[in-house]
Amino acid sequence: MENLKRIGVLTSGGDAPGMNAAVRAVARTALANGIECIGIRRGWQGLINCDFIQLTRASVGHLLSKGGTILYTARSEEFKTPEGRQKALVTCKMLGLDAVVAIGGDGTFRGALELSRLGVPVVGIPGTIDNDIGCTNYTIGFDSACNTAIECIDKLRDTMQSHERCSVVQVMGRDAGFLALYVGTAVGATAVLVPEHVDDFEKNVIERIRGAKLAGYTHFMVVVAEGAGTAHDVGQRIHDALGIAPTITVIGHIQRGGAPTGRDRETATRMGYYAVMALVEGQGNCVIGTQEGSIVQIPIEDALKMEKHLQMDRYNIMEIMQFGSNHEGEM
Ligand code: F6P
Repeated sequence: MENLKRIGVLTSGGDAPGMNAAVRAVARTALANGIECIGIRRGWQGLINCDFIQLTRASVGHLLSKGGTILYTARSEEFKTPEGRQKALVTCKMLGLDAVVAIGGDGTFRGALELSRLGVPVVGIPGTIDNDIGCTNYTIGFDSACNTAIECIDKLRDTMQSHERCSVVQVMGRDAGFLALYVGTAVGATAVLVPEHVDDFEKNVIERIRGAKLAGYTHFMVVVAEGAGTAHDVGQRIHDALGIAPTITVIGHIQRGGAPTGRDRETATRMGYYAVMALVEGQGNCVIGTQEGSIVQIPIEDALKMEKHLQMDRYNIMEIMQFGSNHEGEM
């Protein structure tokens, strides 16, 4: 892109471990290409309010292992209005921003599309622990969140096993079950409930617990994605059906914090690099994604139309590992 002198970078929506690594990579790649980098604080709202900090190679140092986002994050209602976006445009002009890199989820990319329509090139980087963005296999933060939930559940299992209890654990995932599926598989959950398959509670939960009991198990771990129901409701239904009273654990926002894993640091660094290089090469208005492990660029408009479905092959494998499933041959 000609005359690319200064770009902005922001994080928006729910935070995710690895966002800081992406900010660092964007800033250092920009600076390495002779482009100044401004950190916009508090997402799109920060662009409206002209809330910024100058980023240098040193100021983004020591960020790789830091969870959260040093740029803060927000969900801006004002940016959804034409008036709000006009104010953001004024900030871009005032600061002399030739382009913006926006790190976040679908909501962030909808904002990116609107800003690009006002003439500011925007590149999106997918960062959300939900891994639910259609145009990319992987979103920054997913691996870290999985590992955090797995660590919590491993600890919980110790005491569940000692006391021979049933436990229902609620993990995040308002609209998608990726986190619950990966975590449930990795902890060997007795049953896993995802928003994509809430229909058959008897088969997906009750029969699994019963199957494990018949196989000689004395403790049961049920993982539920928040989008599939609350752990309290699931616990109540288990109680009603089987007469046992499960303990309830909601892992909650703990999953969004903590040091990013190696995978998240490395992916965020590559995505940050390619986001800036897309701008340098004149490819604004796209989202950076991974497909088959390689980095790809997808026009924002197309990216927003792409859907992502829970991988049925993985779901089937998880079921095969459980008791009380249709896959059981000899007991
Ligand atoms: O980051 C995505 C997500 O974790 C969803 O799974 C969850 O429902 C949502 O964010 C909650 O975010 P907040 O509590 O910040 O509104």
